[in-house]
Amino acid sequence: MTMSSDRTYDVALEHFRKLLQEQVERSDRIGKQAEWLDYSKLDKLVIGIIGGDGIGPIIAKETKRVLEQALSDRIRSGKVEIREITGLTIENRIRQMKPLPDEILAEIRKCNVLLKGPTTTPEEGSGMPNIESANIAIRKTFDLFANVRPVKIPSQGIDWIFFRENTEGEYVLGGKGLMVTPDVAIDFKVITRPGAERIIRLAFEHARKTGRKKVTVVTKANVIKKTDGLFLETAKDVAKDFPEIKWDGWYVDVFTAKLIDEKRRREFEVVVLPNLYGDIVTDEAAELQGGVGTAGSANIGTSFGMFEAIHGSAPRMITEGRGQFADPLSLMRAAVMLLEHVGMLDESRKLAMALDICGIYDQKAKITGRSDGATASQFGDYVISTLSDPRLDAKWGSYQKN
Ligand code: IPM
Ligand code: MG
Repeated sequence: MTMSSDRTYDVALEHFRKLLQEQVERSDRIGKQAEWLDYSKLDKLVIGIIGGDGIGPIIAKETKRVLEQALSDRIRSGKVEIREITGLTIENRIRQMKPLPDEILAEIRKCNVLLKGPTTTPEEGSGMPNIESANIAIRKTFDLFANVRPVKIPSQGIDWIFFRENTEGEYVLGGKGLMVTPDVAIDFKVITRPGAERIIRLAFEHARKTGRKKVTVVTKANVIKKTDGLFLETAKDVAKDFPEIKWDGWYVDVFTAKLIDEKRRREFEVVVLPNLYGDIVTDEAAELQGGVGTAGSANIGTSFGMFEAIHGSAPRMITEGRGQFADPLSLMRAAVMLLEHVGMLDESRKLAMALDICGIYDQKAKITGRSDGATASQFGDYVISTLSDPRLDAKWGSYQKN
């Protein structure tokens, strides 16, 4: 047993006091949030693209080619620029001991939206220095509070869209936990009322805009009473402004089980949930769709957006020499979300159709992650030729009837 002195507690309390202060200030700032940026008012849209680590540069390269095809007219007329940003690698971040080196942040700030390949996040005890995740750093820097993750399996009637809170929960102080004594570790979870409200409202607004009938709120409010309790209470309040939309509350454990219940799971439509549950549940949902390699993700704030795959950098694929067989569908689907977010709806719709054909219906270049499947670059070629086919609409339509 460790005997702790008053000094131990004083240090911990001082640490805690600072954290409390920062969080109350952050909550006040959310309350005074700016208006949403109107991308259609920009003279030129600059899309930054970052390769990242592991399989990142491989899937980013293919996605860039596809995006250049999707936006060829706008690029030619100077309305869109796709700008590559290099250097967001684990080696460079470790060298500078920063999750997001200054010169890269400066380049990101010059863009209006960002398409980002996965970046490696070292874990405690991995032998690498314990720097914060680049993702989390970008999400925090630009206050990208909504992590939107669609999962669709048409043959099973599944069409889900997850709204994961992206800046609070267990993550906001993820790097600021404390070893109180060598035997006692503490981390913190924070939910603020304005932070919960903005993500829940966005989920309900999405349901209203897209004609969906139900929003599901996932917490563990029976056990995590204060933070999840506040999230659920906020949902009850927000729901009053959307009387035409039904809502229900689920605990995350049974919700996770119901996602694999074939009879029940079609009932879910829009799902909103705190950060860590959202992280876990969306990987599960993506796996049902065909693997995490198939799912895209939007990180949205009022004045910036970052679009990425939902998965990590898959270092194992690189060490096993399978990098070229990585699935670029995840990042390409993120590109669809990017186009939709900036209001390029026709381009977004077409790319989505091409990806449905290549990734779900036709699958003429099937990715398996191994040498028995297509390479990322073969898949890229396939998407580009599908996208440039004048019969794209009709082809996609023919699958909807079956
Ligand atoms: C994700 C990832 C990240 C997260 C990691 C890389 C920090 O798992 O985007 O889901 O946990 O948010
Ligand atoms: Mg995750």
